[in-house]
Amino acid sequence: MSADSGTSEVADPYRESRIPGETRRVRRLLPDLVTTTVAEQLAQLELKELAHPDRPYVLMNFASTVDGRATIDGRSGPIGTRTDMEMLQRLRTRVDAVMIGAGTMRIERYGRMVSDPALRAYRERTLLSHDPLGVLVTRGMDLPWDASLFTNGGGRVVVFTQSDAEPPETATPVTCVRRPDGVDLADVLGWLLRERGIRSVLCEGGPTIHGELQARGLVDELFLTIAPKLAGREERSILTAPLPDVVGLDLEWLLESQGELFTRYRVRGAEQDR
Ligand SMILES: NC(=O)c1ccc[n+]([C@@H]2O[C@H](COP(=O)([O-])OP(=O)(O)OC[C@H]3O[C@@H](n4cnc5c(N)ncnc54)[C@H](OP(=O)(O)O)[C@@H]3O)[C@@H](O)[C@H]2O)c1
Repeated sequence: MSADSGTSEVADPYRESRIPGETRRVRRLLPDLVTTTVAEQLAQLELKELAHPDRPYVLMNFASTVDGRATIDGRSGPIGTRTDMEMLQRLRTRVDAVMIGAGTMRIERYGRMVSDPALRAYRERTLLSHDPLGVLVTRGMDLPWDASLFTNGGGRVVVFTQSDAEPPETATPVTCVRRPDGVDLADVLGWLLRERGIRSVLCEGGPTIHGELQARGLVDELFLTIAPKLAGREERSILTAPLPDVVGLDLEWLLESQGELFTRYRVRGAEQDR
């Protein structure tokens, strides 16, 4: 994350009640004009009842520059501010599982999905497990096993793979789900609902897995941060083409902080089977 001056940081009005932690002030521009906070805004997300009959409700989160780049020098970190990071961390408090592709795991080397104990306690107060289930997809099982997600011992991880390679011993419990004929993302989501009762998934990319999910009509909402920056170089976009059809999006809300825009789009058509 690039340095944010922090001038929009405010004491959390919910510290003593429901929503823990420092939070940042944002202006809600749509659907109505009001000053709010990231914590207050994301506390509105109630996803439990939105699962489809055959799969969880799927949120996708990305950060992009104005010229549509999802990386700067190959990393997502330089794109957004600390407000964007807070948005992501609080999105993680609202879902049953967080899914990422192996490419993102290799580059970003995730730690525990919800690192703040106060946010884990908040999850439990809102009737979620203390950590969202970590979900990884990989063909080759070439994962950074020394990353903190695997070594810190908190939470649980499920790896979907067509490989028969065994993972090393890890402090964090890892379950491998083998699909020798190839990993199908609709099957992954169906398994999560059926076998683990996962009703909502936050997918944090990257562009390859995002493209595959959109192509299959498996994304319900897109949370896209638009950073007031031009990368001006060849980098990844938020989505690997091609899609069979243009996907329509409806803008659900628009937030702003220091020129950074936080959008929430509903994907048209994705909810038809609900
Ligand atoms: N700006 C943002 O918000 C943002 C968010 C996320 C990522 N990123 C950036 O995006 C880049 C990574 O992009 P990416 O497209 O390479 O990453 P990705 O989508 O996270 O991962 C692609 C990998 O996922 C596995 N995979 C995907 N579909 C699969 C399937 N159907 N079956 C089995 N495995 C499957 C494969 O892993 P194996 O190769 O292991 O077989 C594939 O190589 C990084 O630079 C990261 O920083 C940016």
